Amino acid sequence: MKVSRSSVRCLLPAFALVCGLSPAVSAKPQVILKLGHGLPTTHPVHQAMVFMAERIKERSDGQMIVQVFPSEQLGTEKECIEALQLGYLAMTKVSSAPMESFVNKMKVLGVPYLFRDADHFWKVLKGPIGKELLLAGEAKRLRGLCYYDAGARSFYTKDDPIHSPDDLKGLKIRVQNSIMAMKMIKAMDGSATPISFGELYTSLDQGVVDGAENNAPSFVQARHYEVCQYYTLDEHTCLPDILMIGTRSWRRLTPEQQQILQEAADESVEYQRKLWIEAEANDLKTAQEAGVTIIRPDKQPFREKVRSIWEEFQGSQDEQLAEIGDLINRIQEVQ
Ligand code: GCU
Repeated sequence: MKVSRSSVRCLLPAFALVCGLSPAVSAKPQVILKLGHGLPTTHPVHQAMVFMAERIKERSDGQMIVQVFPSEQLGTEKECIEALQLGYLAMTKVSSAPMESFVNKMKVLGVPYLFRDADHFWKVLKGPIGKELLLAGEAKRLRGLCYYDAGARSFYTKDDPIHSPDDLKGLKIRVQNSIMAMKMIKAMDGSATPISFGELYTSLDQGVVDGAENNAPSFVQARHYEVCQYYTLDEHTCLPDILMIGTRSWRRLTPEQQQILQEAADESVEYQRKLWIEAEANDLKTAQEAGVTIIRPDKQPFREKVRSIWEEFQGSQDEQLAEIGDLINRIQEVQ
């Protein structure tokens, strides 16, 4: 039987364990965790995950490798979440929006104008409520490791400037695969069209939709600003990005490996938040210099339009809706 060098390398760790060689001479089995996501490599969230992967490799002496696959190479966000549940993929980074269909409590992050400001947002996410949401998907085989800053989402349109919610009337707006985003667009009298992030450029270009909504780095780095003339900073939602691991992959790690992964993820958040501040400012400037009109509207009419969404949850008798209503109230109490 011919045995190639690479197959020997694969066999070696198992062999070393079977023979009970001392740790000094045995190679520990290498853990490879594949991480799929949809953002381009220039995006600060991608860069933070590469930073995390480097730390993990270093701290595990090369025994833990996180391989990061950007740009929907491994599928859309929804597909990646499903792959985590099935155990085909170890990790993914998604917006909180597609998580809503898997974990009811995640819907709360999609409530428009939920957070008072960035300070309130981070206090909530770094506190007990943030932790509760990260672990709320355990029964669905999904465990959140950390949140990344994804700023605030605002509308951008091809031909029709949005100054007030009335301007959304009849416009087809691309949304994520998200119940909350659909509710929001409906409340503002627009027509919500779910499309994956990877297909959005072409959809805008070909006029399948009239506009979309996102933060400045995603608007610019996915080059949507090339086809949309107007960016209206109404800042309707602050949906964090979330780094997820499938519980099957998580439980296969030793406690020491879990600690290495969690610590590196936490450190990558601090790194990402610094990159984010720069990216937000630079990307807004890039859009402006490319001729995009930046509109800073009065946010109050937008807030009023979505008030019905808050009321639907607060005081509802339905258990699932009431769960969100309760979270809204608890988030409002965080000072
Ligand atoms: C943001 C977010 C992505 C998400 C995208 C979208 O860019 O970071 O995770 O895919 O929005 O609107 O689909």
